[in-house]
Amino acid sequence: MIIKASDGREFPVEMHKTRMLQKITLIPAEERLKAIKEAGYNTFQLKTKDIFLDMLTDSGTNAMSDNQFAGFMTADDAYAGSMTFYDFADAVKDVMGYKYVMNVHQGRAAEHLLAKTFVQKGQVVPTNYHFTTTKVHIELPGAQILEIFFDEALETKSTNPFKGCMDPQKLRDVIKKYGKEKISYVRMEATANLLGGQPFSMANYKEIMKISKEAGLLTVLDGSLLCENAYLIMQREEGYKDKTVAEIVKEMCSLVDIFYMSGRKNTCVRGGCIGTNDKKLFDEITPWLPVYEGFFTYGGMSQREVGMMAVGMREMIDPSVAGCAVEQVKYFVNRLEETGIPVVTPPGGLACHIDARKFVPHIPKEDYIAGALTAALYIASGVRSMERGTISMERDKDGNEVYCDLELTRIAIPRRVYTVSQIEYVVERLNWLYKNRELVKGLKWVSEPPVLRFFLGSLDVLDNWSRNLCDAFKKDYGPDL
Ligand code: F0G
Repeated sequence: MIIKASDGREFPVEMHKTRMLQKITLIPAEERLKAIKEAGYNTFQLKTKDIFLDMLTDSGTNAMSDNQFAGFMTADDAYAGSMTFYDFADAVKDVMGYKYVMNVHQGRAAEHLLAKTFVQKGQVVPTNYHFTTTKVHIELPGAQILEIFFDEALETKSTNPFKGCMDPQKLRDVIKKYGKEKISYVRMEATANLLGGQPFSMANYKEIMKISKEAGLLTVLDGSLLCENAYLIMQREEGYKDKTVAEIVKEMCSLVDIFYMSGRKNTCVRGGCIGTNDKKLFDEITPWLPVYEGFFTYGGMSQREVGMMAVGMREMIDPSVAGCAVEQVKYFVNRLEETGIPVVTPPGGLACHIDARKFVPHIPKEDYIAGALTAALYIASGVRSMERGTISMERDKDGNEVYCDLELTRIAIPRRVYTVSQIEYVVERLNWLYKNRELVKGLKWVSEPPVLRFFLGSLDVLDNWSRNLCDAFKKDYGPDL
């Protein structure tokens, strides 16, 4: 629920209460410096005991509802033929309208099965924007991902409500250039994660689906952030203001051939699924399911997780669930804008994204701008965010660095986990960091894995800047914070 106060302020009010809690601690800056050094200046390598607010991701870190825990307790553990799977299939039918569904252990497993079935060497996959794991699964069989967004998507400061759209003209050009046989499928990502969680409009999505179908192309929707995109369509698109999230979700799902999602975000459970109404397509994918995931009625998940996901599927279209992260992100982004901190606008789906190029403009692109800012935020606050910039890219086949379109520090908002006062804490510390931004310098590799290097890679600071930043923080706040 959004409260509009008499002084014009707006703030989100949580539509749930805390019934169980987990204690968190804030270790002092000196210890944070030690922890981030040991983590190779990579926030993925931090241990939770050293983290105050964990805003790395909204994936698998959401608060589950009481009814979801009930779904855990009542699940039917049968290896084959579990009634819990059939309940999940009913939930998918009710919420998304798909007759055929399979579970997979998480989103990237769906990407793997789809690539295995439909992607061949030399082909291309046009998309509004890539996600890290998607790109790797498409490139592994020797295909290429083509990002055909509108140029404005890369403008971090914008009022365009739908920066996640695909450019229809670019799609027509791709079809003309490559032809049907060379296009594995057309992929739309509901709220383009790496563009800053930016949604596409229903009008654009319909147009892309129409062009693809007329060209005889297969269409795929990555709905890992489906409900956030639907919620933002409801808020921002003419003709949808009186529709419910449930109606918009159903409409989005009805337009595409194959749907897949990571369940870790919208349904708040480790897992995922692939859904379709096309039996022939479904039958092409199913043989790979027991090879890579598990038997048909559990697909790499435990039945207890399937039970929780079934409940999460029915709950995710409740506007207070679909909108809980969106509204906190909006509050967060507006607060940062007020203080002049460069942040991606308009606010998107899953996180507040700091435009690192503008925050620390003195750091050259070779020195991993967003990576440095992400490490600096941890030192200044104990808040764990995520680098979404060049470190999150893969090198090209000759080993050259591929500089990312955007250098973002992503501060994710897990669903129903953090409060507005905790967001205020991050705003305060970001303000301090912004005033002291000159102290932040670049990073260099110490150990760089050959694939998805951002997960396990290790780096070090240039010019010992982390020590200087820590000292400046202690000077302002004392040794205990
Ligand atoms: N597609 C999108 C749009 C995603 O955001 C993710 C995961 C995946 C696919 C892969 O799903 O993690 O369940 O295998 N995003 C997480 C994030 C990791 O932090 O944004 P997964």
